[in-house]
Amino acid sequence: MRLKDKVAIVTGAAKGIGFATAKRFAQEGAKVMIADVNSDAVKAAMDLIPGSEAYVVNVTDRASIEAAVDQIMQRHGRIDILINNAGITQDARLVKMTEAQFDTVIDVNLKGVFNCTQLVVPHMLEAGKGAVVNASSVVGIYGNFGQTNYSATKFGVIGFTKTWARELGSKGIRVNAVCPGFIATEMVKAMPENILQDIERRSWLGRLGTPEEMANVYLFLASDEASYVNGLALEASGGISL
Ligand code: NAI
Repeated sequence: MRLKDKVAIVTGAAKGIGFATAKRFAQEGAKVMIADVNSDAVKAAMDLIPGSEAYVVNVTDRASIEAAVDQIMQRHGRIDILINNAGITQDARLVKMTEAQFDTVIDVNLKGVFNCTQLVVPHMLEAGKGAVVNASSVVGIYGNFGQTNYSATKFGVIGFTKTWARELGSKGIRVNAVCPGFIATEMVKAMPENILQDIERRSWLGRLGTPEEMANVYLFLASDEASYVNGLALEASGGISL
């Protein structure tokens, strides 16, 4: 029970890595707040995760985040953990990328992380403790063909992480990031088969990762076991960047 009675918000938790993380956190005793823009999926996820609550939140819409945070504070009186996991891709090569594709991905993956953290952290400051874990990517370390917008957001999330780790560390709040490699979720399954095979070849473990494997990394960084870990971008990729 590494997260016994902790109140944890996981954004984008209706599916994929976020769902696996929410489920793992609940197994470790956390009260998990599933925050996702997909209103049907968020309720279905709540039914599958004991003790969880569902909040329809769009991370680009500050009013929807504020409403959820207010409700959580009224019900539980604190927020111990924030997992900024919600993210999207809209891939195209530089010359083909539309302004709308660029803006949409920046809005969700970068500004969304800023919005949620800025609205949750004041409550952590009041409590004098908290843990924030942000979803970056290996693409936020070495870039990727066709992902001008997405890789910029994932580099940016590492920038947020290191900046907030400095600003908030002395107040008892740790901020870290996870850089997953290629994980078998809907986001990755949408990639062309030949690219997926190439990725499996390039990973030194010879396969894609699973959402459950990423959930364990989030669990470590969110738990007190990582009490002296701050400002880290932890790559969990089977060693693909070696
Ligand atoms: P996914 O597509 O399976 O799930 C993403 C979830 O986020 C969905 O439930 C979706 O409804 C939600 N979401 C999307 N936009 C939202 C918004 N504006 N507000 C609230 N919720 C929103 O994605 P996956 O693969 O589980 O990825 C999760 C995170 O991990 C993302 O930030 C992604 O960039 C990152 N990541 C994923 C990798 C992978 O290989 N799957 C690799 C590296 C990073």
